[in-house]
Amino acid sequence: MDQSEASTGSLVGRDEEFVVARRFLRQAAVNGGSLLISGEPGVGKTALLDAVAEAAAEAGTRVLRAAGVEFEADISYSGLNQLLFPLYDAFDELAPAHREALQVALGFGAGQPPDRLLVSNAVLLLLRSMAAAGPLLLIVDDLPWLDRASSAVLGFVARRLVGTSVGFLGASRSHTPSFFEHGGIPALDLQPLRPDAAGELINQRFPELAPAVRRRLLSEARGNPLALLELPTALTGAQRLAAASLPTVLPLPRRLQALFASRVSRLPESCRRLLLLGALDGTGELGVLLAAAGEYDLDDLQPAERDQLVRVHGNTRRFTFRHPLTESAVVEVASSSDLRWAHSALARTLVAHPERRAWHLGEATVGPDEQVATLLEQAAHRILRRGDAVGAVASLTRSAELSPDPIERSRRLGQAAYIGADAGGELVNASQLLDDARRASQGDSLYATAAAVHLLLNGDGDVRTAHRLLVGAIESGNHGYDAEDQSLIDAMLTLLLLCYFSGEPRMWEPFFAALDRLTPEAPELLTVAAGTFGDPARTGQAAVRRLDALVGGMGDEIDPTQIVWIGVASIYLDRLPDCREVDWRVVRLGRDGAAPARRHLGALLHLCFADIHTGRWDEAIELADEGLRLCREHGFRFFMWYFQYVQALLAAARGDADASRALTDRMLSFAAPRRARAAEFLAYHAEGLNDLACGDSESAYETLSLLSPAGTIAPYVPHALWGCLDLVEAALRTNRFTEAAAHAAAIKEANLGALSSRLALLSAAASAYVAPDDQVEDAFEAALMLPDVERWPFDLARVRLAYGERLRRNKATAKSRAQLRAALVAFERLGAQPWVERASKELRATGLVKPRSVTRPAVLTPQEREIAKLAGSGLTNKQIGEKLFLSHRTVGTHLYQIFPKLGITSRAALRDALAALTDAEDGDSQLGQLPDQ
Ligand SMILES: Nc1ncnc2c1ncn2[C@@H]1O[C@H](COP(=O)(O)OP(=O)(O)OP(=O)(O)O)[C@@H](O)[C@H]1O
Ligand SMILES: [Mg+2]
Repeated sequence: MDQSEASTGSLVGRDEEFVVARRFLRQAAVNGGSLLISGEPGVGKTALLDAVAEAAAEAGTRVLRAAGVEFEADISYSGLNQLLFPLYDAFDELAPAHREALQVALGFGAGQPPDRLLVSNAVLLLLRSMAAAGPLLLIVDDLPWLDRASSAVLGFVARRLVGTSVGFLGASRSHTPSFFEHGGIPALDLQPLRPDAAGELINQRFPELAPAVRRRLLSEARGNPLALLELPTALTGAQRLAAASLPTVLPLPRRLQALFASRVSRLPESCRRLLLLGALDGTGELGVLLAAAGEYDLDDLQPAERDQLVRVHGNTRRFTFRHPLTESAVVEVASSSDLRWAHSALARTLVAHPERRAWHLGEATVGPDEQVATLLEQAAHRILRRGDAVGAVASLTRSAELSPDPIERSRRLGQAAYIGADAGGELVNASQLLDDARRASQGDSLYATAAAVHLLLNGDGDVRTAHRLLVGAIESGNHGYDAEDQSLIDAMLTLLLLCYFSGEPRMWEPFFAALDRLTPEAPELLTVAAGTFGDPARTGQAAVRRLDALVGGMGDEIDPTQIVWIGVASIYLDRLPDCREVDWRVVRLGRDGAAPARRHLGALLHLCFADIHTGRWDEAIELADEGLRLCREHGFRFFMWYFQYVQALLAAARGDADASRALTDRMLSFAAPRRARAAEFLAYHAEGLNDLACGDSESAYETLSLLSPAGTIAPYVPHALWGCLDLVEAALRTNRFTEAAAHAAAIKEANLGALSSRLALLSAAASAYVAPDDQVEDAFEAALMLPDVERWPFDLARVRLAYGERLRRNKATAKSRAQLRAALVAFERLGAQPWVERASKELRATGLVKPRSVTRPAVLTPQEREIAKLAGSGLTNKQIGEKLFLSHRTVGTHLYQIFPKLGITSRAALRDALAALTDAEDGDSQLGQLPDQ
């Protein structure tokens, strides 16, 4: 113990972790191996890496380090370059093919575009040969921010080190998406410090704190070292001594971000500008910083150094941010003109680095500029030669965007579309591709661009690039905005989806601009969908009647495309249950191979959504499985998150918290690098519900606020509508009465209730949740009296539960029981276990013993009941299957589960058992009179 304590240096409370790390070091030095450290922001991953690096060096291991940088452009292999640069001289020891691949990849030489596998093998061989001279340790911090190419290579290498004397130690924030494939690598999950260690750390650094302040900080920081060290610095001297009262500090760690922003804002402008240069450059080279800084110099950095935000290492001519959150904050607080200033200063400085320079120029330029466009195009070709098609498309589309000449613009877009379309497949021969791309001219057709968009999305491309590409193609097309031009309308519909995926209001601007220009006028469907799918809280109401007309007129519709698009327009106005029949038509066509897979997917998803809200949960789960299978079979990777959401939401609702969490984690890691914020929003909703189900209302509140902050319905985040009541509930459960009331008011203000009967229920309930005691009954009764509330069983049952809880607290026991019982019956039918338990507990608290018995007969789900009824009436499994659009095998499985639930063993007994069941349920209404058993 003594020894490890000595070696953890200034680390507090990390003895156990350090023992694990040292064991890893010893093993890696003789037999290789990898270890990943994960943990929340500021928990001490980097600090632990530092301590390990020091221990390794002391033990005679050579240490190579690199770290991902959040704001750097995704320049391929920049991370690997950082890591392997010190070994440059040893490249000569590699066989020529490997040497050349490595040199080209790392930007030291020109040549054939290197194959990623060749680069990976070259790295592995290089490391092995270096390790002959003594053990080697690679340390890579902040893996999620490492460029894609380096991540892939290091993921490959890290899994093949056993048997060498090379170790790989990586660190990443938990639940942060990354391109680094970590499956199979042992992980060390760094937990917050234990209370005694947290106390010790705060005593060491801030001995002067008054006991009350110390207690408060310890409780707010929850063992997070960063918070422990940072929070006191935001207090005034008087506050630290408890002579002045403490501000209402917000919970951690998400709130830390704001703290960093305020510390940055306090710095003098010259200092902030230097920091901005540093953050955007991302290399930490003081030379670059000072060269770009113009009138500013090192002295201007001093306030940040004094404030412990950055560290300047004079001897190595480098500077580092003490924490990545500072970097985020620096960029966050910068104005757009500051950003442009910094990018152009860096572009002027980085003449020797054409790619980085082009990227900075692209970001610094506002209007059309042929010179910058040319540089970006050249950079794109260089990037492509390194084998990074996605990066090349990004650079080319920015180049097109800045092109003053429309012909040049469409030529560049054509190239981007062409390369993008190919990026979905294997990139066999980059130079061939380049030649073809050069020949592709005139912007290609809109269809080719739309195809490229889909390929990009289903590959590694991001939504913003796809959006840029399609906007470019629409704006430079020679369609004259003719509303009859089907390729234009299709492209507009695809653009509508991209805008939605992006989750960013400003992405909608070009869509609406193009919509306005359509002549003689935009097709009805497009206009309606724009109103209901973009920002329904603000524009949905105006489209309600027109949407109803579209949905109502769909009876004989057979065109899958039309059906699915009307479905898209229906989602947030809860009209999907009215589309079930036509959606099933598309699904059957799809199953027969007679409808395109994408339409089949769309219809499946719409059925899932309808099923979730109308309580057909078993069917939703089956259909989501079918959707995921289809995505896999047809390579529609991008659409998987839809179905994962369905599964995550229902797993949460049914109490399978782990499964739900695993699915939302997967959605989030997919979404972030692709900037698909819509997928994040869906994940937040499911995660929030999961937290509520687990009773973790604090997390629920934090997560649901990311979907839409309390007090506003986030613009262009239609999914905010689906989480609105959950947020009010989470706020109330965490005693945030002001926030709850603010959100209920926002819901009312936005008149969400006018959009659908479901939203009417949710909005009325939101008002009831926050109503004062003397109005609460009227408010809840008003909500329950609304038309069609029975269509939405889960929502309704939750409102009843909340009502029952309030009534019980107000001592209206009999009324409370009635609500709670009705809620319990509904939850049991749905299989919503966490809520079954909550309702049962509440019922017990009203003094009812064994409340569950009242619902004993109600064991069948709605779908099971339907199947049982049909089977009881004499239909075969096949006939039932055809009626309900299920396979006969599925019907069989259901019956197999239904028989024991009803206590019967044959079909013949079904009819009687069902009749008995109905009688028993009728008896439910005689409250409290059923015998317990
Ligand atoms: N056990 C510890 N004892 C003392 N100081 C610590 C300890 N752990 C972390 N710190 C300090 O807390 C701050 C945050 O730690 P660190 O930067 O290592 O967090 P991190 O997990 O790498 O965060 P991020 O995810 O943001 O990279 C640093 O100033 C670090 O020196
Ligand atoms: Mg770190």
